[in-house]
Amino acid sequence: MSKPKVFVTRRIFPEALDMIAAKTHMELWEDELPPPKDILLEKAKDCQGILSLLTDELDAEFFKTAEELRVVSQIAVGYDNIDIAEATRRLIPIGHTPHVLNAATADMAFLLMMASSRRLVESQIFVKEGGWRTWHPMHFLGPNVYGATLGIVGMGRIGLEMARRARGFDMEVLYTDPNRRSPEDEQEFNLKYRDLDEVLAKSDFISLHVILTPKTHHLISKREFHFMKPTAVLVNTARGSIVDHAALYNSLKKREIFAAGLDVTDPEPLQKDHPLLSLDNCIVVPHIASASFSSRLAMSNLAAQNLLAGLNGERLPNCANPEVYGAR
Ligand code: DGY
Repeated sequence: MSKPKVFVTRRIFPEALDMIAAKTHMELWEDELPPPKDILLEKAKDCQGILSLLTDELDAEFFKTAEELRVVSQIAVGYDNIDIAEATRRLIPIGHTPHVLNAATADMAFLLMMASSRRLVESQIFVKEGGWRTWHPMHFLGPNVYGATLGIVGMGRIGLEMARRARGFDMEVLYTDPNRRSPEDEQEFNLKYRDLDEVLAKSDFISLHVILTPKTHHLISKREFHFMKPTAVLVNTARGSIVDHAALYNSLKKREIFAAGLDVTDPEPLQKDHPLLSLDNCIVVPHIASASFSSRLAMSNLAAQNLLAGLNGERLPNCANPEVYGAR
């Protein structure tokens, strides 16, 4: 039997590529940048599997073109770049990589919280530019993390990892989520369930961990910034467009909130001349929350396993649209 043809849209860890290459005719897109739309459509025509990234737009046109496609395996937990309804309609399973990045992502959210409140980047620039002339009691003041109140918006797997870290900093944790956690979780992590407005109003740090859907698009906008404390720090490691960036800019500029730490932006990448990058009180890093060695290796391996399972007609170890199995 001939091997299935697969398109891998970026170089991932060699272990995972070897796993795929051993069982398929693999074509690897070697560029740093994503394959342009026309190339993606051309490759889609005759491949049975695709390993995609969150920067590849797999829309209805893609699925229409990909007549032989048996599986999509995305190396990310999020899959808002994929028309999942269309894939499901066509009974194509979508693999993704949950769990293995929870700790790394929560580490980054915590890091952004601390770096934004204690002005790490701003003070580093100050030193490098020769501004450090003396110790001064009023230089680079910022709010304490230890003992503060953390508001977690979206208490899924990564939100819970944040709560785990917050325990070590003796923080009070308020959270909001459509689904309340079990009483056992609430007790173990000392979580207090509140509505969004109360979380925003009472928290010193607000960390976003919801998925991007039409409902969460611009979940944090002008109205929500008005609820926040002037000392509040907002952290986003979820998806950029959950926050309305024009409203965020105004809030930071007018010091209505203290600072923001962003791993994700809208759009991505953020251009060099974007207004947010002119602010001292906004840290932006290039969507690297899951970029620990072990997380990215595990994501690569999981993506390879999902891809091969789909090509073999087996259930994907991590499937974003399990309805496809019910429908079969
Ligand atoms: C994801 O997995 O969705 C992150 O945004 C990248 O690791």
